[in-house]
Amino acid sequence: MEAKELVKKYLEFFKSKEHAMIESASLIPEHDPTVLFTTAGMHPLVPFLMGEPHPLGKRLTDVQKCIRTGDIDEVGDASHLTFFEMLGNWSLGDYFKKEAIEWSFEFLTEVLGFDAEKLSVTCFAGDDDAPRDDESAKIWKSLGIPEDRIYFLPKEDNWWGPAGETGPCGPDTEMFIDTGKEKCSPECRPGCGCGKYFEVWNDVFMQYNKTKEGKYEQLKQKNVDTGMGVERTIAMMQGKETVYGTGLFKPMIDQLKKLAGIENFIQDQTKSVRVICDHMRAATFILGDERGAAPSNVDQGYILRRFIRRAIRHGKLLGIEGDLCRPLAKIVINLYKERYPELDKKTEFIMDEFLKEEKKFRETLEKGLKEFGKIADKDISGEDAFLLFQSYGFPLEITKELANEKGIKVDEEGFDKEFKKHQELSRKGAEQRFKGGLSEASDMTAKLHTATHLLGEALRKVLGDPDIKQKGSNITPERLRYDFNFDRKLTDEEKKAVEDEVNKQIEAGLDVRKEEMKLQDALDAGAQSEFGAKYPEKVWVYSVGDYSKEICMGPHVSNTSELGHFRIKKEESSSAGVRRIKAVLE
Ligand code: ALA
Repeated sequence: MEAKELVKKYLEFFKSKEHAMIESASLIPEHDPTVLFTTAGMHPLVPFLMGEPHPLGKRLTDVQKCIRTGDIDEVGDASHLTFFEMLGNWSLGDYFKKEAIEWSFEFLTEVLGFDAEKLSVTCFAGDDDAPRDDESAKIWKSLGIPEDRIYFLPKEDNWWGPAGETGPCGPDTEMFIDTGKEKCSPECRPGCGCGKYFEVWNDVFMQYNKTKEGKYEQLKQKNVDTGMGVERTIAMMQGKETVYGTGLFKPMIDQLKKLAGIENFIQDQTKSVRVICDHMRAATFILGDERGAAPSNVDQGYILRRFIRRAIRHGKLLGIEGDLCRPLAKIVINLYKERYPELDKKTEFIMDEFLKEEKKFRETLEKGLKEFGKIADKDISGEDAFLLFQSYGFPLEITKELANEKGIKVDEEGFDKEFKKHQELSRKGAEQRFKGGLSEASDMTAKLHTATHLLGEALRKVLGDPDIKQKGSNITPERLRYDFNFDRKLTDEEKKAVEDEVNKQIEAGLDVRKEEMKLQDALDAGAQSEFGAKYPEKVWVYSVGDYSKEICMGPHVSNTSELGHFRIKKEESSSAGVRRIKAVLE
């Protein structure tokens, strides 16, 4: 089955269950300044999930174009896509768990023909905010899913939303197809990244509203919000291990082979092929959106620029020196213009912008690579990484990838500092114009920065080790990354305890204070410092209530209650004896 047919069958199925079909909304959310892109089908429906009546009634269905940039670094593996399509059906205070789950099951097994034996599901395990979802589990059992294929997982896995910082959210039940691969370990379960279990659909029971203060209030109505990934479902239907093996990517990959003059790509080239395909789809859809953006150095335009430039750099790795973007964009437009006629209408704009951006970047790419070659005999400083961005148009991802290939490191924090300095200067020059996007991004950065201090303290407390120190930190508007010395993996309980501890301090509404101090005085006062960092004579010390005290350059929020809800997305090894946590504020 091809994507087109899946979309048709899905919409018809839910029409037969009395759902009204709505159009895909713009990729650029109109009313939510806390996110740059529409990340799920529910995003444009927020007011209706909150209780406003929808003109088409209480049952809706659609296919929505989405972009998620949180894991942009991970594009290239089997399943991460930045652009994807999401099928969804909604109940706005109408049906709830029973119908939602029964219809999901019916569609998967009867319409798509998946073997029920291959289906595993997860349900919410319960916590202080909401009870364990036994009701969903019972419904799954009544449909014949045995207990050993029903997993209860915590918020980290089985809670969805809000899409931005506040709004509707709730526990969910997720559906996975067993690919038949061996379990990677005895603990392997749905949600494990090894590829055995492939998530295809998520039914969210949205009955909570998350407030600015991080509280979960009951919504006026109980909603259902579901999301089925088109690319992932098609991969399972076509018996492919990765979304890139499907018919959705074949024409692009064939075109790439032509452009590169290569008959078959070898293993080493897989990542480049995937990055190009993914980024060119996302870039074409951003340019071709009804509220579309052109490449720039801010907001959506900046993400778009990063997509295009990274694709071109990877094209070069495949030996493509000529026109890359436009031949691929043509394929994307053809493949999707029926469902998204805006792509067709904006073809000229899309092509013009690709041409301009590609020309601009190719003019400096060669020189930038030479410059990189000159400075790459040692780790790349923040200033040098920023110079590569400023003078040669290399987004940080490119510099990082080049450094990786050479086995050297990039001072990402230093780059971010330089970047912020530059943004600050730009802002002074054009305050109003930049207000929206940049202040939003820097607000988020300040929040994540304060969350980093809370995290450090929470780790010392929960793991009972006062010698845990920061070994590195990197903050983007999307997430924080925190490296610390510790010699084993954290258990799920420990991660949960760390999250709870951070959220407790957020909810406590602690004031953040800044003092200027002599370095020695700060250390004598017990202020935390980063392991191995060099500090000037005089430093700033940020205190969060009586909870934490750290030498730091900021920026920070003025009270922890501004942070929202803290969630650990990943805990992994960074290097020997160093663990890495990626976390977000929601
Ligand atoms: N909003 C839910 C998701 O994105 C359905 O998974």
